[in-house]
Amino acid sequence: MGEQELATTVQAMMQAGKGLLAMDESNSTCNQRFAKLGIPQTEEARRAWRELILTTPGLGEFISGAILYDETIRQAKSDGTSFVKLMTEAGIIPGIKVDAGAKDMAGHPGEKITEGLDGLRERLSEYRQMGARFAKWRGVIIIGEGIPSHGCLEANAHVLARYAALCQETGLVPIVEPEVLMDGDHTLEQCARVTEAALHTVFCQLYRQRVLFEGMILKPNMVLPGLTCPQQAAVDEVADATVRCLLRAVPAAVPGIAFLSGSQSGELASARLNAMNVRFKSRLPWALAFSFARAIQQPALEIWQGEEANVVAA
Ligand code: 13P
Repeated sequence: MGEQELATTVQAMMQAGKGLLAMDESNSTCNQRFAKLGIPQTEEARRAWRELILTTPGLGEFISGAILYDETIRQAKSDGTSFVKLMTEAGIIPGIKVDAGAKDMAGHPGEKITEGLDGLRERLSEYRQMGARFAKWRGVIIIGEGIPSHGCLEANAHVLARYAALCQETGLVPIVEPEVLMDGDHTLEQCARVTEAALHTVFCQLYRQRVLFEGMILKPNMVLPGLTCPQQAAVDEVADATVRCLLRAVPAAVPGIAFLSGSQSGELASARLNAMNVRFKSRLPWALAFSFARAIQQPALEIWQGEEANVVAA
């Protein structure tokens, strides 16, 4: 019964031609993005922004699920309709970010470990009662001089697996997100090596923690050169390197992979994902989709600027 429910949710999240929308920025991340555009950093502005997104006409034709944040899942449209109800009526499955953010890792200068396991079982149960059907936890891996360390890869993989096991116990599909950041001047090959190591470590821990691969979704980075690497890569090179890495490290039992966008523009992130599906779809054991935040939201946010008059254009 539990396994069947997880499989049904995964299927609904990975519908062909659709993807996931990450709108789960913490208040501080959302405020930072607002601040850059001079938008007030208030609860009401964050609510209005999320209302704009969720009332976009036809959103459910392209988005199968959206990831909310603790503040957002409790919010409502200005007419009082809860966001969860709005989404459910539009055929968009509500999800929830449940990690408590990436913090400096003790003994590991320059590296991060994600917190949030304490009290997680109770929080997951509350979110489920509020209508969430899946969850997200993000681990952050940084490429730099001598990093990532084994200690960092293993600690992040371990907490991702503990989180995923708790999600499945509660009937929520875990999105497992080990993100290798784009910051830095590393090459595409370095990113490929680190991403592959991170994924092997994650799947080893998922196995140890008895996570059902069929009842989860992986949210990885694409394999890319660092933002300041002088040698940038063509769309097909990114598609090839990413698929090669995933084929080596992601079990075929995993039903779906939904990419984060990181610091890519919407156009590039979409072109690269499209190239992967065009070139490899018939040969891949898992569905490939998107779970973008910035690549989807940023262009609309820049049009909105916090102004009611810009809502329709945005
Ligand atoms: P980006 O698409 O902006 O990388 O965000 C995805 C996400 O949910 C990060 O946790």
